[in-house]
Order: sequence, then structure tokens, then C-alpha cells
Amino acid sequence: MSEGTRFDGEVAIVTGGASGIGRASASLFANEGARVVIADVDEGKARRVAESIATAGGEVVVERVDLSSLSDLEALVERTAERFGQIDILANVAAIFPSASFMKTSPTAWDRIIDIDLKAVFFLTQAVARKMIEQNRGAIVNVASGAAFRPVPGMSAYSAAKGGLVAMTRTIAHELARYHIRVNVVAPGHTASETVRAQMSQRSLDAAADGLMAGRWLEPEETAEAIVFLASSAASGMSGAVINVNGGDFMPH
Ligand SMILES: NC(=O)c1ccc[n+]([C@@H]2O[C@H](COP(=O)([O-])OP(=O)(O)OC[C@H]3O[C@@H](n4cnc5c(N)ncnc54)[C@H](O)[C@@H]3O)[C@@H](O)[C@H]2O)c1
Repeated sequence: MSEGTRFDGEVAIVTGGASGIGRASASLFANEGARVVIADVDEGKARRVAESIATAGGEVVVERVDLSSLSDLEALVERTAERFGQIDILANVAAIFPSASFMKTSPTAWDRIIDIDLKAVFFLTQAVARKMIEQNRGAIVNVASGAAFRPVPGMSAYSAAKGGLVAMTRTIAHELARYHIRVNVVAPGHTASETVRAQMSQRSLDAAADGLMAGRWLEPEETAEAIVFLASSAASGMSGAVINVNGGDFMPH
């Protein structure tokens, strides 16, 4: 059974909903009554998340989407609009974050990061906004990173994508405001998602935690709460905002 009613009757697309912050967001949206579309390239993982949401009483579908394909993005929006007749929320959570020093980042690696972490957000938002403009309402939440605001060695291309995402969100928010569409950013700090846990040993996680102000990694659910808040009517006055969910590690201005 659904636990809340904040999103009753609404339809939410969550990219990257198969893992980590996207998974936690998809669950929270469904718990609050939204019909959720998990859009992810990893269909197997997405189906497992969907099963657990459905078991808890949520309404959820899976769309296998490769965000680096513009035709996949268009198809996702068309199928969602056909199935549900509306799209109320878009949470752009998916991203890749391979590490490579600036001097070793190839044009191919740059293109892949920019395609998935920036270009896909731009054009998926554009395709969804076409529907939202017809509806004269909608909420979009883009997930950036602390890397948009401060140096993170090994993440120069990723930083460019996330910094670009913050900058473009502000302009998109401005342009879409007249259609009652809000566009905001959540910038997570160190979050122990499935991918991070798979890439780092417990020992390295613990060592890194020592350097964090809160002395611990955040859980994906803690960031998902901010995403869900920005998508909700509780944030009706907010657009073009950036919420940092980083445990107090740093405060960009
Ligand atoms: N985990 C962190 O410490 C951290 C810190 C700052 C920002 N972020 C940001 O938060 C977001 C979520 O991070 P996470 O750690 O939960 O991620 P994650 O790796 O756990 O999940 C990302 C999901 O995106 C999907 N995905 C990747 N490429 C895709 C593609 N081409 N098409 C469709 N789906 C694709 C993956 O299959 C996966 O399910 C990302 O935008 C990331 O940049 C994470």
C-alpha cells in the first residue's frame, strides 16, 4: 500500500531508477502515490527495483532506455504519454562517473560523459517539456554533483557536464516558468550508492568517510528526499534552485 498521497495521480519518470539515488527516488515517488516510470539502460536491475516497488503496493513500469540515444529519449516520452496521458515529473538522476585524469581523458571518453550526463538531460528535458507545456504544469529535478562547484581530481569531464547541467537548469527554469514548469537541481555529495559500493572496498569507503565533515557517506535515500521535495507542491515557489545534499562538506555560493 502507498504510504503517502503527495503525488496521487501524478506520473514521474526517473532516469537511473535501477540503482542508487534513482532507485531510492523511484521508491519514494511510488510510496507517495505516483505512477513511476523507471528509465534505465540496465533492464534487469530496473525490473528488480520495479518488483520491490510493486510488492510494496506501488505502480511502476520499466522502460529500457540508453540515454546516449536521442531516439530512445523521444520513444520514452512518447510511450509514457501514450500509456498514462500525462507526465508530471521528470527526475534526471542517471549519470556515469568514470575516473580519468585530465591528461588521459580521450575525446571518446569526453563524448560519452557529455552525451549521458549533459546532452541526454538537455534533450530529455526538452522532449518532456513539450508535454508539460501542453499541460501547463510540471516539475523537473536535475541531479548534479559537488563536482560542479569544486575541483575533484580525475573528474574533469564529469565536472564539465555537471557544471553545465547547473548552468543550463537556471536558463531552462527561466524559460519554462511561464508554463508553470519548475526546474531545480539537487547536488549530492559522497553517497554510498550501489555503484560506489561496487567500485570501492569497505576499507576505502571507511578511509574516505574519515575525510568527510559528517564522518560518513550519505545513503541514497537522503538525497532522494530532496529530489522528491523539489518535485512536490511543497516546493511550488522554487525554480532554478540548487539544493546541496552533502552532509556539510562544503557550501558553494
Ligand atoms: N554517488 C555519489 O557519491 C554521487 C555524488 C555526486 C553526484 N552523484 C550523482 O547522483 C546521480 C546518481 O548517482 P548514483 O551513485 O546513485 O548512481 P548509480 O551508478 O548507482 O546509478 C546510476 C544509474 O544510471 C543508469 N545509467 C547509466 N548510464 C545510462 C544510460 N546510458 N542510459 C540509461 N541509464 C543509464 C545506470 O544503469 C544506473 O542504474 C548521478 O547523476 C551522479 O552523478 C552521485
